[in-house]
Amino acid sequence: MAQVRSNPKYAAITEDLVLRLSQEALTSGLSGKPAVKFVRNKLHQVGGAYFKRDIDYTEAARTLAELPQQLDAQEVWAFCRTLMQSHASTAERLPIIGDFYTTCLASIAPITSILDLACGLNPLSLPWMPVAANLQYHACDIYLDMLGLIDSFLEHFNITGSASSCDLVSQVPRNRVQVAFLLKSIPCLEQMDKRIATALLTAIKAEHILVSFPIHSLGGRQKGMFAFYRDHFYDLVAGQPWAVLEFEFKTELAFLVTK
Ligand SMILES: C[S@@+](CC[C@H](N)C(=O)[O-])C[C@H]1O[C@@H](n2cnc3c(N)ncnc32)[C@H](O)[C@@H]1O
Repeated sequence: MAQVRSNPKYAAITEDLVLRLSQEALTSGLSGKPAVKFVRNKLHQVGGAYFKRDIDYTEAARTLAELPQQLDAQEVWAFCRTLMQSHASTAERLPIIGDFYTTCLASIAPITSILDLACGLNPLSLPWMPVAANLQYHACDIYLDMLGLIDSFLEHFNITGSASSCDLVSQVPRNRVQVAFLLKSIPCLEQMDKRIATALLTAIKAEHILVSFPIHSLGGRQKGMFAFYRDHFYDLVAGQPWAVLEFEFKTELAFLVTK
């Protein structure tokens, strides 16, 4: 684990995930450098590959501290947009961001509590979400430095909540919320555990789950992803007594599941 994390690219990843992948490497018979390489490749695939550029978290925290404390201020929107550009997943959502949240959440707005699973930089989309004044926002991901910034972000805007580390393959957060977000993360998590999606959809303690899938691959090619993920989603919820609303956007396919 120490060797894996000695490279700065992997230093801020939660130990739980590094430990689980290291154990997997050893169990499969790898040791020494090949084991370290296996773990790093996996960490890159599920996390590192999404960063379009390195984020200077110290600088971002400094800028955040000087922003007005109103989520609808122009400077706040600009700050959020600039940061979200650094992560492929949110960058791809930016052209549709307002429409995405108002459309997907219209039937249950204003939102009072959110659990954002494998959040990336998505909590910075808050200014575009139809939320109530007393909103609670809980977020989790594998990058401790990113979570630190999200925590400061929630604190700056006086939002009750938390940003904590998690390895969703080994544990699902137990928060009870109105809506959980599982945005574009199922394909990523399935690279570590093929059965994770069903396990998550069943275990999440939320009245509604907003699930989404990418329509383009990280490389930008289409490859029939829309039809593939749509079929995959309906296979996942088949036989469940859940209501589903479907939404199609230029860059994302979303479903609001009501349990
Ligand atoms: C495709 S991105 C989606 C990010 C965000 N939900 C969004 O839509 O913008 C996948 C996210 O899953 C996170 N991730 C990868 N493995 C994870 C794990 N085992 N537990 C929790 N999060 C994980 C990555 O760090 C990354 O932020």
